[in-house]
Amino acid sequence: MNASLATAFDATATFWRPLRTEDVPAVAALERESHVAPWTPGNFTDALAAGYSMTVGEAASAIVAYGVLLLAPGEAQLLNLTVASSARRRGLGRTLLRRFLADARQRGAAQCFLEVRVSNAAAIALYAAEAFVPVARRIAYYPPGASGEREDALVMRRALAAN
Ligand SMILES: CC(C)(COP(=O)(O)OP(=O)(O)OC[C@H]1O[C@@H](n2cnc3c(N)ncnc32)[C@H](O)[C@@H]1OP(=O)(O)O)[C@@H](O)C(=O)NCCC(=O)NCCS
Repeated sequence: MNASLATAFDATATFWRPLRTEDVPAVAALERESHVAPWTPGNFTDALAAGYSMTVGEAASAIVAYGVLLLAPGEAQLLNLTVASSARRRGLGRTLLRRFLADARQRGAAQCFLEVRVSNAAAIALYAAEAFVPVARRIAYYPPGASGEREDALVMRRALAAN
């Protein structure tokens, strides 16, 4: 997102739609600036081919958020949730997470799981605020980032009440 768009950015004007193949370069660029060990473009195209639920949020023709949800029988797994750095703290992460949870619930999932780096305070705060609770810790689960150290994953779960 450029500076003028960031200034004018209005979270309520974000348009949510399925991620398409032609979005992969833009999404992969946001991914590289947002994650210690980013998904590659190939990871996104593989996820599309596998039929995962993939959503982007668009504002003024720019992608400002995206996420990937895996729906399995009876449960869902959040595989990716990312908001462009210039669009954070405006409610987009929460909005996309809630959209995924509502969709998962509607499609019969009774619970949703996710994994998050133990150092990722922003994401953990969002998930805790949305009623996810820690259920396990995977030691040295994530590949090393700039620190050169592998990092533990916190596994979090949220029950999805039936409608
Ligand atoms: C985690 C992330 C998706 C949150 O998206 P966001 O749009 O900025 O979050 P929201 O504005 O919807 O915030 C919702 C709530 O989450 C919590 N939260 C979000 N960012 C936070 C931060 N930096 N510090 C503390 N709490 C935070 C707050 O409770 C917030 O509510 P509030 O704004 O009313 O206080 C975003 O920071 C991001 O893309 N980070 C990089 C990628 C990443 O780490 N993804 C998660 C991988 S598991």
